[in-house]
Amino acid sequence: MILSIRDLEVKYKLSRYVVAHLKEQINVEELRRYLIFSEKGSFDLSITNEKLRRKISQQIMQEIERFRKTGYMRVYALNGVNLDVEKGKVLAVVGESGCGKSTLALAILRILPENAEVTGEIILDGENLLALDEEIMRLRRARKLGYIGQGSYTYLNPLMDNAFQVLESSLVATDDFDKAVKFFIDAIKAAKLDSRILFSFPRKLSGGEIRRVAFALALAKNPQLLVCDEPFRNLDVYLAKQLAYFLRELVDQLKTTMVIFTHNLALMAEIADEIAVMYHGIIIEKGPTEKIFLEPVHPYTKGLIGALPDPRNPKKKLIYVPGEPLPRIISYDFCPFFNRCPVAEESCLESKPSQKKVNGRLVACIKAEELKCVPPEEFWGPHIGW
Ligand SMILES: Nc1ncnc2c1ncn2[C@@H]1O[C@H](COP(=O)(O)OP(=O)(O)OP(=O)(O)O)[C@@H](O)[C@H]1O
Ligand SMILES: [Mg+2]
Repeated sequence: MILSIRDLEVKYKLSRYVVAHLKEQINVEELRRYLIFSEKGSFDLSITNEKLRRKISQQIMQEIERFRKTGYMRVYALNGVNLDVEKGKVLAVVGESGCGKSTLALAILRILPENAEVTGEIILDGENLLALDEEIMRLRRARKLGYIGQGSYTYLNPLMDNAFQVLESSLVATDDFDKAVKFFIDAIKAAKLDSRILFSFPRKLSGGEIRRVAFALALAKNPQLLVCDEPFRNLDVYLAKQLAYFLRELVDQLKTTMVIFTHNLALMAEIADEIAVMYHGIIIEKGPTEKIFLEPVHPYTKGLIGALPDPRNPKKKLIYVPGEPLPRIISYDFCPFFNRCPVAEESCLESKPSQKKVNGRLVACIKAEELKCVPPEEFWGPHIGW
């Protein structure tokens, strides 16, 4: 196991300042809504279960009270993530917007913003990254961890040519100059960077070329683990596919390990060895790609897979998962999918679901055994009024 994440929790502290200035943050919008509701004295939570509604309203009221007194509240972004990644494999972490993908990516590199509180363990190659000194962590980032983010432009230096930046990355990765040159050459070969790309400045390149330089930059240090956060965002379908295959090739060629955080399930079906589905800051299902696509077990995974169009069957009825995620400003000791799950029972409210092995994968649902053979259309179809 190259990466092992245990009970990772991340809370963001949200202060009055953030509420006033970060209007685009989803949770700030959410928070405003609750502040308005609290003045009215009631919440429009669209939760049908009376017990859950009471429980959540009460907690939100407490949070708002605290916010009024102390000037800050918490956003629970990761609520106990448990995840293992095997050496040499590509793991795709998928899930809807706001489920905590970027938070997890940044937590692995320990580059979360200052308002984040982190607890748990992130063990890379036998070493707990969260327990390291900042100086040692910088070394790990320079030598062991590669990162490819969504905005590649923002981390290429506009004043230096691309060759210099890739070379610099390989030079900090090792003390041995010859080795650094080898890393550099391997990276530019693997990323297929020709002399035109290498000796020009980032602004002169197209979107796809920029991504390739970004890949080379991450690979030039011969990392043990490559973390990619939405590497295909804002790319057209064709380019996204080309780059996805290209990344996969790189991983095989350089014998590294990769975790990709993305929305693009269809693309991941082709290149990932394993899929982990994230919902509300926890991993609800994780297993080999084929198993997840052919026999999804968790109700949410069934919804995700059923929502994918099938080009061979254009008349396929697409599933959608009705409802919206529960508020993120309170912590949960029960299943966070409760309000959207058609088969949820009172017992799902009693404890947080833990991961169990079912059908060759890990599932965090107490009803997993019962649901394992029900296909997505059969499961979601009757509940969404077909
Ligand atoms: N700096 C921050 N301060 C406060 N809350 C934050 C901060 N960054 C993220 N959040 C909140 O944490 C939660 C998880 O966010 P995150 O960006 O990790 O989601 P994501 O799965 O990457 O979403 P997307 O798919 O849209 O990129 C969200 O509710 C988000 O609003
Ligand atoms: Mg993100």
